[in-house]
Amino acid sequence: MKHDFRACIGDICLEPMTLELSQQYRVIRNEDENRKWFITTDIVTWDMQNAWFDKYMKNEADYMFAIKYKDIFSGGLAIYNVDKEKQKAEFGRLLIKQGNLRRNGIATAAIKMACNIAKEKMELKCLYLFVKDDNLVALKCYESTDFRKVGIVNGMIHMDRVL
Ligand SMILES: CC(C)(COP(=O)(O)OP(=O)(O)OC[C@H]1O[C@@H](n2cnc3c(N)ncnc32)[C@H](O)[C@@H]1OP(=O)(O)O)[C@@H](O)C(=O)NCCC(=O)NCCS
Repeated sequence: MKHDFRACIGDICLEPMTLELSQQYRVIRNEDENRKWFITTDIVTWDMQNAWFDKYMKNEADYMFAIKYKDIFSGGLAIYNVDKEKQKAEFGRLLIKQGNLRRNGIATAAIKMACNIAKEKMELKCLYLFVKDDNLVALKCYESTDFRKVGIVNGMIHMDRVL
């Protein structure tokens, strides 16, 4: 949905996702090494992304963010399936561009900011996520940001974090 949640930790910032940035997100998500970690591993075309963005803007339960490092687009993440009544939402679509940007703590800082926005601005009490059990790097990120394993669903590790 259209939102205005923003945060920065040093040079690492979360900003609302725009159509233009979501096309950049699509390009990195389509890379074989990246899309293999998502539930849907299909290649996404320019047209598909435009259609997705249109739908996304109308979806009040979906908040997508661009991640920037020193003002350069570096990836994205989302807080979605927001259930205001139960005060919980799903965390996901986490992706950092391959190359020099990786292993600099960008994902870790971005997760921390997302958790803070979920708690302070969205007034949620819990975030949950699903991660493939062999995605050891992502698992490390989630464990170091206080997500805990709560079970296995269809071969995916289910984790949650109380906010
Ligand atoms: C998972 C991902 C977002 C991590 O991004 P990142 O910015 O490189 O992560 P960070 O720099 O914050 O590192 C987090 C932890 O993982 C470790 N790590 C990062 N890359 C690693 C690697 N290739 N091998 C081993 N450990 C690694 C870091 O050392 C750090 O651990 P620490 O806190 O103990 O030092 C990134 O690798 C990515 O986009 N992967 C593809 C998409 C994906 O898997 N998304 C998650 C789907 S659930």
